[in-house]
Amino acid sequence: MDENLDVFHIMKTMRPMRRLKPDPVPQDIIEEILDAASHAPNSLNTQPYRFIVARGSTTKTFFGERYDAEMLRRFAAIVPPADDNSRFARNVRAAMALGKHIPDVPVLLFVCGERDWPGAVPANQRIGLAPPSYGSVFPCVQNILLGCRAKGLGASLTTMHQMFEAELITHLKIPETYGIVAVIPIGYPQGNFGPVTRRPAAEVTYFEQWGENV
Ligand SMILES: Cc1cc2nc3c(=O)[nH]c(=O)nc-3n(C[C@H](O)[C@H](O)[C@H](O)COP(=O)(O)O)c2cc1C
Repeated sequence: MDENLDVFHIMKTMRPMRRLKPDPVPQDIIEEILDAASHAPNSLNTQPYRFIVARGSTTKTFFGERYDAEMLRRFAAIVPPADDNSRFARNVRAAMALGKHIPDVPVLLFVCGERDWPGAVPANQRIGLAPPSYGSVFPCVQNILLGCRAKGLGASLTTMHQMFEAELITHLKIPETYGIVAVIPIGYPQGNFGPVTRRPAAEVTYFEQWGENV
């Protein structure tokens, strides 16, 4: 395991780890990660998130079948040929492979968020259910991913559940006041953590006004 726990190193090497070993993940490590992750900023310290830690095959199979079907529906047409070894091709193949292996992942973590209308939506335009409070939940989601990375656990952020969220909410007995923000498969990784490739921040950073780079 990579022992360098410098926070900048952790951030720069936290790539999605989608190929996971079936080895069990101790419950105390999951609880330690969730406890630390809960210290993320959130609106008025309301902490509008709930976690469901699923290890049982019923939920993993239920979720996996639907997730895989949606991944195929969305991406099957653009899966690169097997001899394409580009980063994009490997990324797509790994994402598709995760769909097939959800039932084998040790932990499937559902991060739920309390529903609340953003203040900018006028009261007379609020129709149907409010969205979950994404802004108050995603800092926690990122902390979970970083916490997994620091503990040597592979994890990846997924949101494809949005395509079948209603039946997933029923399956998990989630009350109407909450939605699902992210689903994070967690396990010990088959591969290595590695550098994440992103456009340099300098290319997307302006000073004082939009477009001013100097
Ligand atoms: C909002 C959001 C939703 C995502 N949903 C999925 C998903 O459903 N399935 C998946 O495999 N990856 C998902 N990802 C991960 C991205 O696909 C991944 O970060 C991207 O391919 C870049 O790969 P890299 O981080 O290895 O460079 C999501 C990322 C974000 C930020």
